[in-house]
Amino acid sequence: MPVDIMNVFTPALAIGDPARFAGRQEQLDAVSIALQSEGTQIVIYGNRGVGKSSLARQLAAIAQGDQTVIDRLNFKPPTTPDYLVINIECDDSVLDLRALILRLLTDDDALAPWIPFKVEKTTAGSELGASLNVKVLAISGKLTNSDTLEREAVEQDLYSTFGNAIAHILSTGVVSGILFIIDEVDRIRNRDDLPSVVRARGADPRVKFALVGVGTTPQELIAGHESIVRQISDGCVEMPPMSAVELRAIFDNAHQALIEEDIAFGDDAQDWIIEIAKGHPYYVHLLGKHCLIRAVSIGERLITEALARDVLAEIANKGTAKVQEAAYLKAIGHSFVREFVLKAFAEEERDEINTSIVYPKISSARNMDTGTVSVYVGHLVSDKFGGVLEKTRERHYRFKDSLFKAYAAARPFQYTPDKLEQDEHEAITS
Ligand SMILES: Nc1ncnc2c1ncn2[C@@H]1O[C@H](COP(=O)(O)OP(=O)(O)OP(=O)(O)O)[C@@H](O)[C@H]1O
Ligand SMILES: [Mg+2]
Repeated sequence: MPVDIMNVFTPALAIGDPARFAGRQEQLDAVSIALQSEGTQIVIYGNRGVGKSSLARQLAAIAQGDQTVIDRLNFKPPTTPDYLVINIECDDSVLDLRALILRLLTDDDALAPWIPFKVEKTTAGSELGASLNVKVLAISGKLTNSDTLEREAVEQDLYSTFGNAIAHILSTGVVSGILFIIDEVDRIRNRDDLPSVVRARGADPRVKFALVGVGTTPQELIAGHESIVRQISDGCVEMPPMSAVELRAIFDNAHQALIEEDIAFGDDAQDWIIEIAKGHPYYVHLLGKHCLIRAVSIGERLITEALARDVLAEIANKGTAKVQEAAYLKAIGHSFVREFVLKAFAEEERDEINTSIVYPKISSARNMDTGTVSVYVGHLVSDKFGGVLEKTRERHYRFKDSLFKAYAAARPFQYTPDKLEQDEHEAITS
């Protein structure tokens, strides 16, 4: 079978296939243990692009009894799990819990096909503060006793309807439980009610929630009352950056897929890509994919570091990493000095960057006083330049998004020092 070159690496997709899921043993075990522990809900949180959704996909596979992933666990479930898994990705239209539950009840890939009634919203849209009632209509084909058809719509409380739907599915006995995976939780604008809904429904040990999204702490992600967060905290799984060994396993998997093609990544290329990825598997996939395309198009069999560097420059030029490139261009504006300052910050290893370490480096490299450096840092904090940095405490800053930080460090310079005079003018006038 010819190799599907375009999909050996998947920068745009979470990993579903357990065979392509690299590393993350500790996190796999953690979600499996949480799944098996009564009353424990699951929270998967961490930085952008570190692999949260991919772990959630593996959790789904465990819950559905997929043996390839269960075989990898150190704490295997005593009986093969048989959950109905409902996986929902929130987007900006999910404004609040009401909108989320409504989606769970009405989406064809959520509960709708499993329940004998149809749910419709009563008032316009899902605006904040809209009615908590829904219209519920029986569907004839799904009723067990067709003589008692209820064709009239009845108004019911949204949350009790959700409870009824869950109770109905569990009562049929076709599945042993229901696992709701709610991904991109951070995009729900008002999620104040999330912990209480999770606690209320999760009181039945057959019902599990996995809340997934960007956050540096579980509290930040689920915005919950501390006591509720504590109750579910033994199911919190932090996604740290992937280690070099784990990232290398992504290349090993790719090489397996590429055996017939006789194309491989040299050690130098792997090392360099792993280095610039800074723990984000996303960059291994993005660069891996584009290196592969380049190698095939020029008939090269061995992907070297030089080729990978060219490919990264091309990714920047063509805006292939659209979100990161747009943020980069916005942050640097038209200024070489601001670009220099941004990169100097991005190259610092630590998450929290101390200005007493980085300012002297910048001032001696660019021969400018630290006061001027701080003006540029002020720009990088301001909304005008995208607010990529935030101040954590006196003399300390961090990048809001570690995925962007890695990009800013690795991307080749956009400007050259010729722009310097223009810059000085801008610094004084802005
Ligand atoms: N364990 C893994 N093995 C191999 N590839 C992985 C692994 N985890 C994630 N990836 C890859 O890394 C990229 C990001 O993964 P994923 O979408 O799961 O991250 P995320 O944390 O959910 O990102 P986001 O913050 O954008 O939602 C994808 O290309 C995915 O295929
Ligand atoms: Mg994700």
